[in-house]
Amino acid sequence: MNHSGQLVLIVSGNGSGKSTLAKIITGLYIPESGNIRLEWYRQHFSVIFLFDHFLELETNSLDLQAKEYLEKFHLNTKVQVKNGSLSTTALSQGQRKRLALLTVFLEDRPIYLFDEWASDQDPFFREIFYKQLLLNLKQRGKTIIVISHDDRYFHLADRVIKLDYGKVEYDNAANYSQ
Ligand SMILES: Nc1ncnc2c1ncn2[C@@H]1O[C@H](COP(=O)(O)OP(=O)(O)OP(=O)(O)O)[C@@H](O)[C@H]1O
Ligand SMILES: [Mg+2]
Repeated sequence: MNHSGQLVLIVSGNGSGKSTLAKIITGLYIPESGNIRLEWYRQHFSVIFLFDHFLELETNSLDLQAKEYLEKFHLNTKVQVKNGSLSTTALSQGQRKRLALLTVFLEDRPIYLFDEWASDQDPFFREIFYKQLLLNLKQRGKTIIVISHDDRYFHLADRVIKLDYGKVEYDNAANYSQ
């Protein structure tokens, strides 16, 4: 059972099934057997996969909030937002990923799933992502699922699930009575 405001970390070596699990729980893959016991619906998720594409802002009522996020994500010197449009999307890969992050922050859904989001961020912004942005989502009561290899930030998680060949090898929530 997950709780809102909880940061759940999914870890394991390459090819253990993290991204596959992420795609199943967000509804991108249909399970061939077994069932998903989720009370959530797919539209509750904000998902950024490793090779996510940039999404255009669809509304202009969020300009102010978008400007705030552009500063938070250190993009304000590169990108301006006006009437829901962005001045440029000619950005580096790491910067484009930050812009994608901005769109999911604006979507403001209850559940966030990040599949190795920070893998192409520089150490400075990686620190901001784990220590400020995830914390910010936690404080806003979001449920956050983070798939990551960044072991220096594992201690920030409330719950750690380790996969091994598609099976749960370790889940520290099993140590607590629920
Ligand atoms: N589309 C696919 N069809 C069949 N098998 C796949 C497919 N995608 C991945 N796999 C297999 O499923 C296994 C798990 O892959 P998955 O991408 O979930 O791993 P992962 O834990 O996310 O790894 P990484 O840390 O490298 O991102 C791998 O052995 C892979 O070969
Ligand atoms: Mg993966």
